Amino acid sequence: MKKKHIVVLTGAGISAESGISTFRDSDGLWEKHSVKDVATPEGFEENPKRVLDFYNQRRAQLNEVEPNQGHTLLAQLETEYNVSIITQNIDNLHERAGSTVVLHLHGELTKAQSTKNRHLIYDIGTNAIDIGDTCDYGSQLRPHIVWFGEPVPEMEHAQKIVQSADIFVVIGTSLNVYPAAGLVAYVGSNTPSYIIDPKQVEVPYNLSFTVIQKKASSGVVELIEILKKSHADESKNG
Ligand code: OAD
Repeated sequence: MKKKHIVVLTGAGISAESGISTFRDSDGLWEKHSVKDVATPEGFEENPKRVLDFYNQRRAQLNEVEPNQGHTLLAQLETEYNVSIITQNIDNLHERAGSTVVLHLHGELTKAQSTKNRHLIYDIGTNAIDIGDTCDYGSQLRPHIVWFGEPVPEMEHAQKIVQSADIFVVIGTSLNVYPAAGLVAYVGSNTPSYIIDPKQVEVPYNLSFTVIQKKASSGVVELIEILKKSHADESKNG
């Protein structure tokens, strides 16, 4: 039998139990830093070192954190389902947990790109980017991150993935940031959809999602139980 396709949209909350701060919770990153200063092209133009330092710290943190049960269970789902992860996160914890299909909507910490050509991308692991580090053509490197005000190049690809979902799951995102949050509009009207988050999240467009009001790790455990039960019910009914 063909494996069902589970599409999972994740945000900062999936990595919270690994020790990475979310953005909008109290004590989140956007309480300590101004979005304009560190996550816009204007902020980079004004003070590139401040922006490089911000992402250098986030990148270095990758050496100190590990995937949590939420990431690991999503990776293990691949034995029974085709699983596509669409993440707004810039960490590499889904990959490190073993997920094989991961689309990063907002870029990746472990990559740098040329300031003159966003298609010139380099793997840098957890190394810092400093002023004076350049691409092969001599232009300053910047983090491979989609900043506010920049287009999200992977959106169309992400929309197609969401449209092909047999089961759709949202984990750990406040659904505040567009266009990423708008992906929920591409879910088929009969596609079972779930949202895992310890807080109540308002799903745009009044869409109806089954709410699992838990942290990512215990929430994914509950999700798997629900999926097993619905699979058993389907088998019983023919
Ligand atoms: P937010 O900080 O806006 O939302 C995090 C969500 O995770 C909230 O709904 C929390 O309730 C939830 N959460 C907290 N702890 C959790 C846990 N242990 N398990 C599950 N959920 C938990 O982060 P995002 O929605 O990911 O973009 O933010 C979206 C984008 O805004 C980011 O990609 C980033 C940011 O500005 C850019 O920088 C371009």
